[in-house]
Amino acid sequence: MKITFYGHATFKVITPEGIRILIDPWLDNPQSPAEKDLGPYDLILITHAHGDHLGNVLEIARTAATEVIAIHEIQQYLLARGIPNVTGMNIGGSYRTRGLTITMVQATHSSSIQEEDTILYGGDAAGFVVKLEDGRSFYHAGDTGLFYDMKLIGELYQPEVAFLPIGDHYVMGPREAAKACELIKPKTVIPMHFGTFPLLTGTPEAFEKHLKEMAPEVGLKVLKPGETIEL
Ligand code: NI
Ligand code: MN
Repeated sequence: MKITFYGHATFKVITPEGIRILIDPWLDNPQSPAEKDLGPYDLILITHAHGDHLGNVLEIARTAATEVIAIHEIQQYLLARGIPNVTGMNIGGSYRTRGLTITMVQATHSSSIQEEDTILYGGDAAGFVVKLEDGRSFYHAGDTGLFYDMKLIGELYQPEVAFLPIGDHYVMGPREAAKACELIKPKTVIPMHFGTFPLLTGTPEAFEKHLKEMAPEVGLKVLKPGETIEL
């Protein structure tokens, strides 16, 4: 799989068979590189409804060739705004499409959409595990605090790669994210959701220190916005 980091929680993943996935499509985030792939994508996964995760979905999912996958409440919201191809699901379930198995998993976070003075209910916040055509999996945790059932995600799906938030304040900080690695046991962890705003103070350096203490067997790969790795 080819993984490109676009800053914040936005990742492009190209699967071994060439399926193009974008996760949490905030393509104009403050860390976003100038050069980026605007699509069209085959799949767009949305972990929850906060603006920094819904991102630019209303602009980049306008044709039926792009399938958006999100929790039921976000599906209803996007369909009502003219996005043609949206699949709703809910936590604990798996959806098989294009040779992939996409499982929506728990996250401990909130989820809502702000429209002027109104806050719309966005369903629960979630994460995704994606099983690729070759049997390997990756896990994008979305925005979340640490929860012990991450151990179940590790045991059931054995993700080779985990994208975990480390920025603190709204999500796990470096110490909690290192504990998450101890529970999930991925081969590689890629930190996300740090440094975008001043409140997101967790750093990859602090994460590395805690990871060495709590889960030294997990490989750390810090991606710069725009950087691609192949795993
Ligand atoms: Ni959020
Ligand atoms: Mn967020």
